[in-house]
Amino acid sequence: MCGIVGVLGDHEAAPLLVEALKRLEYRGYDSAGIATVNNGTLERRRAVGKLASLSDLLVHQPLTGKAGIGHTRWATHGAPNVENAHPHRAGPVAVVHNGIIENFRELREELAAAGLHFQTDTDTETIAMLVQHYLDQGLSHRDAAGKAIARLEGAFALALLFDGQDDLMIVARKGSPLALGHGEGEVFVGSDAIALAPMTNRITYLEEGDWAYLTRGSIEIRNQAGELVNRPVKTVKIDMSQVEKGGHRHFMAKEIAEQPTVLGDALAHYLRGDGIELPAPGLDFADFDRVVMVACGTANYACVVAKYWFEQIAGLTVEVDIASEFRYREPPIPPRTLALFVSQSGETADTLAALRYCEGKASRIASVINVTESSIARESDLVLPIRAGAEIGVASTKAFTCQLTVLFLLALKAAADRSRLEEGELEEHLEAMRRLPGLMNFALAQSTEVAAVAKAVSEARDVLFLGRGSMFPLALEGALKLKEISYIHAEGYASGELKHGPIALVDKTVPVIVMAPTDGLFDKTVSNMQEVMARGGKVLLITDPEGARAAGEGCWKTLIMPEVPGALAPILYALPAQLLAYHAAVAKGTDVDQPRNLAKSVTVE
Ligand code: AGP
Repeated sequence: MCGIVGVLGDHEAAPLLVEALKRLEYRGYDSAGIATVNNGTLERRRAVGKLASLSDLLVHQPLTGKAGIGHTRWATHGAPNVENAHPHRAGPVAVVHNGIIENFRELREELAAAGLHFQTDTDTETIAMLVQHYLDQGLSHRDAAGKAIARLEGAFALALLFDGQDDLMIVARKGSPLALGHGEGEVFVGSDAIALAPMTNRITYLEEGDWAYLTRGSIEIRNQAGELVNRPVKTVKIDMSQVEKGGHRHFMAKEIAEQPTVLGDALAHYLRGDGIELPAPGLDFADFDRVVMVACGTANYACVVAKYWFEQIAGLTVEVDIASEFRYREPPIPPRTLALFVSQSGETADTLAALRYCEGKASRIASVINVTESSIARESDLVLPIRAGAEIGVASTKAFTCQLTVLFLLALKAAADRSRLEEGELEEHLEAMRRLPGLMNFALAQSTEVAAVAKAVSEARDVLFLGRGSMFPLALEGALKLKEISYIHAEGYASGELKHGPIALVDKTVPVIVMAPTDGLFDKTVSNMQEVMARGGKVLLITDPEGARAAGEGCWKTLIMPEVPGALAPILYALPAQLLAYHAAVAKGTDVDQPRNLAKSVTVE
């Protein structure tokens, strides 16, 4: 996902822009650039690779000026090279853009027919060319930009800067978030409040379809219809420690370590005495016959875990879908359906599109979200924050366990609303939940043990993860964690599926990681392990002390987790899976926080 920043300030813009872009690095990128207007002259500097390359370039070819825009690019159209890096320019217009312009080909044809010549194969250059085209027709900056923005289809957050104008910036958002920062006689623009934190905490979030005409002394916001609108100014509390590594080597390590604390925060937010209190307007699950849960990636695996809880504890039917399939399959949404969307960023394009598909069909639309001022949050009837704090590492860790925590509480609420709980059962579950942060600390204390195993796993070419019941989605999540940061091919399977194909992969070079607390399915999983070992497979068993005694013999390695009530095992067992992936990636020397090709939030299809 790209990041954009902009400054109309009273200090040199270049260092502020680079500093703000550093706070957007977590989104993933492969090139970066800035443009400034200095005494009316618009100039650009762009570089491939990390921001250090851009900073080096600025040392040798400095850019001055107090008005500027900046960008970190995650390549969608066109290779990650300098020519395709932002800002793009057409005549007197420079633009930075996050998103995809879906009608850029027809716009290019129209502009080429009008005699304009393109320098790149990016959709973004088309934006600048279109604005230039309207300026050439004599329109004012405001009208040229407004007319061009109105013609853009797709998802975009963009900022425009103009040659000869060092007190003007025009910005717009449609489908990708954009925040305005209010300074003293200065104005800032950023993809999120984190980018603007060093400059201001007074933030206005543009709404869908808004565009704004900015000068140091004025902010004019118009909606999609072109009407002047007011948007609230919020004082955003960015705890800067959340966007620093806090002494850890990587953000991912910090965020793994934070889980007992943030999970405790999530519980404190929802638990009142011996009850669960949801934010208003509440949910009464007696109103629903089914829940449809839609998400992507790790968030989707949280939904798969929750399906077991809703069905087993609340007796409520749950359908889980990955958003990119759901949105195009266009499934029927019967009456009395709760549509529940889970997303850390709240900006994942497929999940947002799936939510919009459910509008007017589902009885209620709720979302389980970390970034509560995000698009998905804003378009939900009810937002359930997971309170994980800023998650900077691209690999989702604390957000996953906090999503599971909120989803488990929702399943308990559903069971209570549907009178499915025995006397004292709710208190028992809540007491177990309250013990979870402490149990997580025991699991985290095994990090050194896990690191030793991870070193061996990091040498494998293929890895299998197995789990049964609610540990099956944990096998999927463990495989995703490992593959996305260590680049080792890993697959998660339901243990019962082993004999239906995956066992053909098993030999002494393939670690098979079995996630199995001693629950009702443990013995069946032991049989699967023996099938693997009989074929020379190396089993790494992640279990509890009883499981280790019963089945640890003969395993290649055993990691022992504290005893935990079966329903909560998926939350606890997420930690060894995260640590295994983390240490394997460190052993391989990959970029743990910004793995290749990945973005923190996939805001384009
Ligand atoms: C998880 O480690 C990945 N970073 C990715 O699968 C992520 O979970 C997915 O893109 C969904 O993101 P969201 O929760 O912000 O919607």
